[in-house]
Amino acid sequence: MQWYINAVFYELYLRAFADSNADGHGDFAGLRQRLDYLEWLGVDCIWLLPIYPSPLRDDGYDIGSFYGIHPDYGFLEDFRMTVDEIHRRGMRIITDLVVNHTSDQHPWFQEARRSKDSPMRDFYVWSDTDDRYADARIIFVDTETSNWTFDPVTSQYYWHRFFSHQPDLNYDNPKVRQAMLDVVRFWLDMGIDGFRVDAVPYLYEREGTSCENLPETHDFLKELRHFVDTHYPGRLLLAEANQWPQELLDYFGAGDEFHMCFHFPVMPRLYMALARQDRSSVVQILDDTPAIPEGCQWAVFLRNHDELTLEMVTPEDRDFMWQTYAADTHYRLNLGIRRRLAPLMDGDRRKIELMNSMLFTLPGAPVLYYGDEIGMGDDVTLPDRNGVRTPLQWIDGPGAGFSTAPALYSPVIGDAVYGYHQVNVQAQQADSTSLLHAVRRMIFARKNLPVLARGSLEWLHDLPLQTLCFWRRSAEGAVLALHNLSDQPLDIPLEPGIVFSDALYPDVGPVSGSVRLEAYGCRWLLPEAG
Ligand code: GLC
Repeated sequence: MQWYINAVFYELYLRAFADSNADGHGDFAGLRQRLDYLEWLGVDCIWLLPIYPSPLRDDGYDIGSFYGIHPDYGFLEDFRMTVDEIHRRGMRIITDLVVNHTSDQHPWFQEARRSKDSPMRDFYVWSDTDDRYADARIIFVDTETSNWTFDPVTSQYYWHRFFSHQPDLNYDNPKVRQAMLDVVRFWLDMGIDGFRVDAVPYLYEREGTSCENLPETHDFLKELRHFVDTHYPGRLLLAEANQWPQELLDYFGAGDEFHMCFHFPVMPRLYMALARQDRSSVVQILDDTPAIPEGCQWAVFLRNHDELTLEMVTPEDRDFMWQTYAADTHYRLNLGIRRRLAPLMDGDRRKIELMNSMLFTLPGAPVLYYGDEIGMGDDVTLPDRNGVRTPLQWIDGPGAGFSTAPALYSPVIGDAVYGYHQVNVQAQQADSTSLLHAVRRMIFARKNLPVLARGSLEWLHDLPLQTLCFWRRSAEGAVLALHNLSDQPLDIPLEPGIVFSDALYPDVGPVSGSVRLEAYGCRWLLPEAG
């Protein structure tokens, strides 16, 4: 089995993680000092958010140069040392690769906008009018009114799918395609294990289409995969494509495009199922999810650095999600919700564990978002998505143990429920009944159960809708995963004649006949051999 198929991923925002030089920003030296923690937690692969030089108007997704490290984070040598240290500990690391656009401060764009005759002009997409590609939706609806922005220097418009300061690269230009392969080579030569490839559906534009998922885009992505396979076999390409299952499937190609894709549609449905105490939406979307080629895997997640996206639900379901989880409209952003997992669950430990249990037992490799393993909160007073990107809370002490600087890049969460006095790594590491230990227990149980990676999925349809219960089976074994979505205890009848053990709490002893699930309870049961 390829390494990523049963890996546990940890999404890590370097600026928020650990500040070694007291400048208020996390950095590589800080991360190196804290690798013990990630190893202890059982993380297999770290996914680093963008670390490139950047004006930071989109937190580094606005790249100012593909060939360096943001000065806040250290030197390129620091990066290399960090990669080596991660590998020495038996973990892996992938980084964000932003292929669709650059910052408007990138030298390519600076040169391109200089004149219509600039040799770099064709690196970007220009037009005399702002009415082309009118069928392409706007993604950042709260900030942008058009995908075109007028550039007074040459009196033409340039194309951008995200912020207006992020011009899209022109993939019709072979030089752009080659330039991106050069970037890929540079970073893979540094020894990283692959990329989370950002915003992949939008690379090409064609009149009369939505400008998403175009055949030309897939052609380039296959070229990228071929390049990686040829020169760097075993490295991972993970796609960020916020699309429905059918379209997502195309990003795996015939096993010759991405190794992994985030399963965007399943994520909001886990929240919906819990709020409605009804499994139907989760069952439906996974039943609609086609089988993926050999050697491929889904990446599943509960939260990430962006808003909890509601793009892949119906308008009715979006309203339901907003009413339920963001009744206060300050929590809404674009088509999503800018909150972290713990506050979304009202801080209810049972619900947080239940959500994690579904994440760990349904198909796919789980991707955790830094801080959610201790139940960190968010800060809605911060703009955009910054409220879910606050410093990791290490200790109940100054700067939460993140930094000793007088001023931090972001305030630490300090409220009475989720603040660092109450919620921090140190206290939870010391307490075997903490959320952190519960999450860690799931991580290690999961690693011992490779059937959870690619085993079949068989629903227990006869049970009440308030349950999400299913078998995972493969040649490597079987797991019966039981979840109670309701606020009442439920007794679940088990198949007669089978004796089970408990994969999360092996000391519980054999289970047979039936099993009680407490309100929001979950169990991972293993049929005993023989
Ligand atoms: C991706 C990133 C998001 C960023 C956007 C534009 O969707 O996840 O954080 O803002 O790309 O770069």
